[in-house]
Amino acid sequence: MFDAKGRSIHYLRLSVTDLCNLRCRYCMPDGVEKLEREDILTYEEFLRLAALFAKCGVDTVRVTGGEPLVRKGVDYLVAQLKAIPGIRRVTMTTNGVLLAKQLPALLSAGLDSVNISLDTLSPEQFARITARDEFENVRAGIHAALESGLPVKLNCVPQVGVNEGELEALAALAKDKPLQVRFIEMMPIGYGAAMPCISGPELLARLQKRWPGLAPLPAQESAALGDGPAVYYTAPGWQGSVGFIAAVHGKFCASCNRVRLTSQGFLRPCLASEAGCDMKTLLRSGATDEKLLKAIQTTIWEKPQEHHFERKQNIPATRGMYRIGG
Ligand code: GTP
Ligand code: 5AD
Ligand code: SF4
Repeated sequence: MFDAKGRSIHYLRLSVTDLCNLRCRYCMPDGVEKLEREDILTYEEFLRLAALFAKCGVDTVRVTGGEPLVRKGVDYLVAQLKAIPGIRRVTMTTNGVLLAKQLPALLSAGLDSVNISLDTLSPEQFARITARDEFENVRAGIHAALESGLPVKLNCVPQVGVNEGELEALAALAKDKPLQVRFIEMMPIGYGAAMPCISGPELLARLQKRWPGLAPLPAQESAALGDGPAVYYTAPGWQGSVGFIAAVHGKFCASCNRVRLTSQGFLRPCLASEAGCDMKTLLRSGATDEKLLKAIQTTIWEKPQEHHFERKQNIPATRGMYRIGG
């Protein structure tokens, strides 16, 4: 369906848990509070809502977290989402730690692609960023996903004084492998708000110095990579491409196509706004499908026009990325 600004909304991000097996300093550092189990939607509740979203025109569902693979049976959820009439693509954003182990079940469930976070190529730096010693498992997850033929994108948040020196090496993965390496501008949301980062345009200029042939990917090839906000570049002879998700310096709200459902069942029509609808309370108070559908339609219609990150507007750390799912 369309929102009041005329944007076609057809992409739903489902945050299935607030839990994570890493503690990245800009997302979910050690010491953050967990939600109570009963506050999290059951798979049946997610599936009931997803079917209603599909009735409103949602054809793509991205499963996120926290870390979605720490929730038991997420392959079951993927298979059931795929079975909903109208849902064409089910994808996942993961930190990759448990991916190698769970990949066979996810492939059987029909997962269409995977986005894996990777901020560094150094096991020591990985442990510093994530406070966990899991680099080898992530590497194995990326390797297994590539071997299986599943489309793979890597997500890297460039951070001043942290992984600055590795960005060319990370980009070079796209030269040698058929994957997309995406550089994400740190958004002023949660713990990341206070951290200095490198902008998309600044990094593109740096990469073009090293690889002068880097040019925008033709529109058709770019469209084949999905409906996300990344802008892709590639160079002659490269197997993959690099992407830039520049929410601050390359605002993409005018073409936004998505809404988010948090693990607590809160429907958030914009990542950068706390506005939305408490679907869990409606669900658990016995609302009919008709009533739920109406709530979804109203919330989508009222989707905020854009973020105001430039005003240094800030979303509190307690409602940070790990609770929203990116
Ligand atoms: P694709 O469909 O594969 O392009 O997915 P994606 O890039 O949208 O999803 P992913 O979960 O990999 O997100 C990568 C980064 O983009 C994360 O930091 C997200 O928070 C950010 N992102 C995704 N969608 C939006 C959005 O609508 N608005 C903003 N501001 N950031 C977004
Ligand atoms: N700004 C931008 N990206 C973020 N992520 C987590 N927090 C932020 C933030 N404040 C990224 C993670 C992951 C993706 C889902 O979101 O690195 O790759
Ligand atoms: Fe869409 Fe909001 Fe992200 Fe802008 S900030 S792209 S409107 S979710």
